[in-house]
Amino acid sequence: FHVDDDASASEKGAYEFFMLKEIDEQPAVIRTLQQKYINEDGSLQIEDDLKNAIDGADRLYIVAAGTSYHAGLVGKSLFEKLAGIPTEVHIASEFGYNPPLLSEKPFFIFLTQSGETADSREVLDKVNQWGYKSLTITNVPNSTLSREANYTMLLHAGPEIAVASTKAYTAQMTAEAILAKSLGMHKRTQAAADFELGSELTKVANAIQSLVDQKDVAEKMAQKYLSTSRNAFYIGRGLDYQTAIEAALKLKEVSYVQTEGFAAGELKHGTISLIEKGTPVIAIITDEKTAGLTRSNEQEVISRGANVINVVSENLATKEDQIILPKVHELLTPLAAIIPAQLLAYYTSKERGYDVDKPRNLAKSVTVE
Ligand code: G6P
Repeated sequence: FHVDDDASASEKGAYEFFMLKEIDEQPAVIRTLQQKYINEDGSLQIEDDLKNAIDGADRLYIVAAGTSYHAGLVGKSLFEKLAGIPTEVHIASEFGYNPPLLSEKPFFIFLTQSGETADSREVLDKVNQWGYKSLTITNVPNSTLSREANYTMLLHAGPEIAVASTKAYTAQMTAEAILAKSLGMHKRTQAAADFELGSELTKVANAIQSLVDQKDVAEKMAQKYLSTSRNAFYIGRGLDYQTAIEAALKLKEVSYVQTEGFAAGELKHGTISLIEKGTPVIAIITDEKTAGLTRSNEQEVISRGANVINVVSENLATKEDQIILPKVHELLTPLAAIIPAQLLAYYTSKERGYDVDKPRNLAKSVTVE
């Protein structure tokens, strides 16, 4: 008689690690969110109470930690561009004890995969004491942050087991896009009317599928450029910069390669001094307005010996670019651009022989401040 004490092992199926399984699940997660929130006639399943509560706000405050914070940075663009609501994004552990000057009618959005992060709970406690309204966007129904906020929006991503968050990140950005579209429609913004959420999310799901189908490209890049490197940089501008920060977190947390994400134009103001012969620099380029500028920043690091890997939207790509991203809506590019970065992190960690799902010193849910 044998009792399997690692119940989750059976759910891994053919996968060696949950992280790769969860990367692969992302197209399905997006399709689930479409089903849960988008009605057949294109209207959205967002409760009227929530829309009215946000409608009365003059500013959104997104509060989160880790990868969820990075999803919040992308959310800022979505809420500002689609719904026309000024949005600030704050690291929970900073906000808790050094809150910013609040607007007259703030509304709070807590982004949290687990719904249990202590730093975020601390802020929600304060928000409740102050008497402001809040929404928790979480993957875990009935989690503490879900219970203690006024409203909850679920991510429907299924359990995320690997410590490094992947599918919860893309689910959070998808949920933000759905909410931003809904708020924009409520406010009758032109940007929301023009944004065809359903078909744009379908494009994203297909783009992610084609990227995960080509995982051998990322695997080879990881082996060639990252498996023995001490450090690495991700660079980008605009939303590509937000992707670069999350991409850097992924690589450093599972592979222990010291990695930073930088605004491409900021490199020359200091960080470029760290570039040596062979330093990997991964550029994310999806923004037409700034593609040329980022490419010239790349030339500056190439001339100092860096090994450059380009992750580029197909409409901006050249023959030399190594990883090509299918074209998606400009507000949704982080959903596609993060996939190669998740794969690079996974394969670098695996190549180095680490336990990809359980990196040293990290916990899936951090319930202490
Ligand atoms: C931990 C996890 C991260 C996660 C962060 C925030 O540090 O290792 O992957 O992004 O907590 O967690 P939450 O559950 O609030 O999204």
